[in-house]
Amino acid sequence: MTELLVQAEQRGRVGLITLNRPKQLNALNDTLMDQLGAALLAFDADAQIGAIVITGGAKAFAAGADIEAMADWTYTDVYSSHFISRNWETIRQVRKPVLAAVAGFAMGGGCELALSCDIIVAAESARFALPEIKLALLPGAGGTQRLPRAIGKAKAMDMALSARMLDAQEADRYGLVSRVVPDEQLLEKTLALATQIAGYSTPALMAIKESVNRSFESSLTEGILFERRELHARFASEDAHEGMHAFLDKRKPVFQHR
Ligand code: CAA
Repeated sequence: MTELLVQAEQRGRVGLITLNRPKQLNALNDTLMDQLGAALLAFDADAQIGAIVITGGAKAFAAGADIEAMADWTYTDVYSSHFISRNWETIRQVRKPVLAAVAGFAMGGGCELALSCDIIVAAESARFALPEIKLALLPGAGGTQRLPRAIGKAKAMDMALSARMLDAQEADRYGLVSRVVPDEQLLEKTLALATQIAGYSTPALMAIKESVNRSFESSLTEGILFERRELHARFASEDAHEGMHAFLDKRKPVFQHR
């Protein structure tokens, strides 16, 4: 029987995914990434879910790709199996907001997984690093691309070339994380944020996520055109009319996620 390395549970309109390979500090092997991808797609397809949280353990969010599994792989192995592309990138297909709740180590692929999420909430104990250079590897799950976009070239080069580790306060200062909270409140605060987000209109959330992500893929003019079309499209939705009328009626909107 395949080991369960990821737990998925529903908390109201939030899908909570917990990485569960604690003895290996949640080192990300193929089985775990397959299960994570499946859990993400299931929540994304579930109309009862409006936002998703990915979390790890108290000591590690995830300590990176599984070094033990990779140690003897050849080029042919990784090329043929489409390593990383095959299952790590499933998260890019997810259209609902994904929040990372990070305590402890977020190293290498673990840091890159957090970077693939839309919002990172960090516990005070969170530590972020891209230490692949110590293994004579390089960040291969988007780290060399997403980190400079998140914190700029100077800090990203420093982290990737020297393996410098950032604590939660530095990560907050540099714009790598959205919020820092006490460790004992990490899950509660992240779930509260996710619940707030999940209460908004799901198609509007998807449009915002897609528009913000588009800013990294296009010129300003193209990006603004995309945003404008997304705004125009909101006028075809029931929720936008409900939202505006509820404001005028001074009542809480009731969104149908349509
Ligand atoms: N892969 C496999 N096993 C790992 C692991 C990893 N990435 N990280 C930790 N483990 C294992 C350790 O081997 C150890 O196992 P044993 O108990 O069987 O010896 C167990 O988890 C606990 O780890 P440590 O004893 O090392 O714990 P520590 O508190 O002393 O140190 C740490 C914690 C600083 C995170 C350290 O474990 C570490 O440096 N880990 C490796 C981090 C790393 O290099 N990540 C990048 C991987 S490459 C990558 O991710 C490529 C990519 O971009 C996709």
